[in-house]
Amino acid sequence: MASENPAAARIAVIGAGLMGHGIAQVFALAGHSVTITDSVAASLEAVKSRISANLRDLGEDAKAVERVRPCANLAETVRDADYVVEAVLEDLPLKQKLFGEIERHVSPDTILASNTSVIPITAIMQGLARRERALGTHWWNPPFLVPLVEVIETQWTSPQVVAWTVKLHEMAGKKPAHVKKDVTGFIGNRLQHALWREAISLVENGVCDAETVDAVVKFSFGLRLPVLGPLENADLVGTDLTLAIHNIVLKDIDSRPGPSPYLQKLVADGKLGFKSGEGFRKWNSEEQAALRSALVQHLKAMRD
Ligand SMILES: NC(=O)c1ccc[n+]([C@@H]2O[C@H](COP(=O)([O-])OP(=O)(O)OC[C@H]3O[C@@H](n4cnc5c(N)ncnc54)[C@H](O)[C@@H]3O)[C@@H](O)[C@H]2O)c1
Repeated sequence: MASENPAAARIAVIGAGLMGHGIAQVFALAGHSVTITDSVAASLEAVKSRISANLRDLGEDAKAVERVRPCANLAETVRDADYVVEAVLEDLPLKQKLFGEIERHVSPDTILASNTSVIPITAIMQGLARRERALGTHWWNPPFLVPLVEVIETQWTSPQVVAWTVKLHEMAGKKPAHVKKDVTGFIGNRLQHALWREAISLVENGVCDAETVDAVVKFSFGLRLPVLGPLENADLVGTDLTLAIHNIVLKDIDSRPGPSPYLQKLVADGKLGFKSGEGFRKWNSEEQAALRSALVQHLKAMRD
């Protein structure tokens, strides 16, 4: 390992967008020195003011931003890094090319991580000369408010690299979850989209409207989720009861392998959600702003 101690690491972040700037902020706040690059000059120029604004808003140490060094050149960004995390666009050829280039400039022990949402880490990292140092770290938006980081190993990742990366994120105040197989959607998005599939199906089948689906979640098990995970819940009620319920309900739950035709039609009709003013529901700009604001306020309150 380039540095045995994750407490004093040199971090390089590739991509200074929504996720990259937030990831840089978390590592800088944890005391690490961070270099960050972006192919768009304006994004790179904005990164420090973006982080400063977040730190002010969160009441965090404003000096942390001084540990972030924007850098226009990729080689210079990664050259001295112990750990490189990539957060560029969700594009497999771009990510493959980038990691190939990064590998030419880093030391043999530098750990390489991708923050992809859904692209298999195996596909991104397969061309590397040293695949044992590569893994996925899937952060959630906003990175400085949502604690989870899924740490995804591939068939090649060494246990030391996983352990170091888990420690790095723990020490930065995150809640790393070790994903032992590089499965599509990792853990969080598989769970989330299993719920979304059924939510869409209920609307599609006329059981209720979209607003009712959301209300049912928010006013029932959604309230319990922060303290009671699904498998804790299954144990709490009993695995025998869980089995009895599954025997009745699973055959009726949507299990179609592809996306719902209802969802496909929304997209085909230009009903894209907030960006077009209508998706499953209609949204005016005040309603959009209110929902975004409620989400941030809620996440901030959960942090305290
Ligand atoms: N937005 C989310 O909620 C979220 C959550 C988890 C993971 N992710 C993943 O994180 C990654 C980044 O997503 P985002 O939402 O931050 O996107 P974004 O568009 O906000 O940022 C991507 C940045 O990468 C830069 N970029 C593009 N090509 C580059 C290159 N060759 N070198 C350096 N910089 C380059 C862009 O200029 C842009 O600033 C994606 O893989 C995405 O799937 C996103």
